[in-house]
Amino acid sequence: MPKSSECHGFYKLDIGERLRFVKEFSDLTDEEVNLLRKEGGLGLDRAERMIENVVGFMPIPLGIALNFLINKRDYLIPMAIEEPSVVAAASNAARMARPSGGFLACSTEPIMIAQIQAVGIKDPNSAKVSVLSSKEEILKLANEQDPVLTSLGGGAKDIECKVLGTPVGKMLVTELHVDCKDAMGANTVNTMAEAVAPLIERMTGGRVYLRILSNLATKRLARAKVTIAKEDVGGEEVVDGIVSAYEFAAADPYRCATHNKGIMNGIIAVAIATGNDTRALEAGAHAYAARSGHYSPLTVWEKNSEGDLSGSIELPMAVGIVGGATHVHPIARIALKILGVRSARELGEVMAAVGLAQNLAALRALAAEGIQRGHMALHARNIAVMAGATGDLADKIAERMVSERKIRLDRAKELLMELGGQQTG
Ligand code: MEV
Repeated sequence: MPKSSECHGFYKLDIGERLRFVKEFSDLTDEEVNLLRKEGGLGLDRAERMIENVVGFMPIPLGIALNFLINKRDYLIPMAIEEPSVVAAASNAARMARPSGGFLACSTEPIMIAQIQAVGIKDPNSAKVSVLSSKEEILKLANEQDPVLTSLGGGAKDIECKVLGTPVGKMLVTELHVDCKDAMGANTVNTMAEAVAPLIERMTGGRVYLRILSNLATKRLARAKVTIAKEDVGGEEVVDGIVSAYEFAAADPYRCATHNKGIMNGIIAVAIATGNDTRALEAGAHAYAARSGHYSPLTVWEKNSEGDLSGSIELPMAVGIVGGATHVHPIARIALKILGVRSARELGEVMAAVGLAQNLAALRALAAEGIQRGHMALHARNIAVMAGATGDLADKIAERMVSERKIRLDRAKELLMELGGQQTG
């Protein structure tokens, strides 16, 4: 029987109990569970091989977002993030989405674009035709750089050329379209671009400078959508509030930057957990948001004919499940196992759904009670735990501090004496 990612009161369990739930859901081994419990989990040896001048680690918490149903499949979502409320917010939004069937997600083929910049060409438009008419030769040379990828059905598939007019003269930019299959693909496409550069120089009579991928991965898009019954989101007024929050972002780049930041809260947390390149995703997302010349929201929220809320997201999703840190970092490997994704495309689809959920949670909170209540409730619980409270008692103390608007350690200690005494006495 398929396992459910739905869990009420997960946050009330201790870490051991939470790990048991995740172990059971994702069939983790004891060794993997032990690695998760170890702060860092990476080891200096591995860290030394990942980057230069290593002096230590910067650990951040790994949480699990619950309740996600995407394309009729249950997922536990590993999220690595320093900001409170993000994991809880994603879980809440995913819970709201379940009654109507959860999220539907899809994606394009995982095609990355590499750019080869040629300058000093006398007749760039004619050179463009020379390059395009030698497409097969260029693709062949590119594909010789990665026979494994090619044997898996991936590799360079197409080329495009454009002539750019710039203050330093015309440039011919050749773009290689490379199917990266389950890899993010940066190394592969950069190697291919470097390999074909001399050929382009010969064909155009120009000089090649840059040979590098584009993070504006418009041929590698992920999409997700969700519909939530008005009752499940808090009524028609909340639906109207969310639609109006979206329209605010669509009309104003100042609001839109924050709107999109909220989406990336979720996407980047999954990217960090799975060892993916967060900067590539941020660059791609924001450039995509600005592709019309007007910086726009990555999501759209509408009210349908029944008065229910309908949301969708579309953005570039250059992520991998093989190679790079996804492979080297032991926690990233465990995070991928927790997710149970079978391809980079599936990972991208899940991440798009998480981004949509994250945005829904933020807009709902902003349109209804404001964001600070949720933040404060979590903050208050942390203070209660710091004071020494556990389980239900921590919740009670947190609730009291929130209602009194006194979220302080000294007050938590007083309440611990008062309520803790009541409980044991
Ligand atoms: C905070 O990290 C993210 C939000 O500001 C997003 C938003 O305003 O939509 C809550």
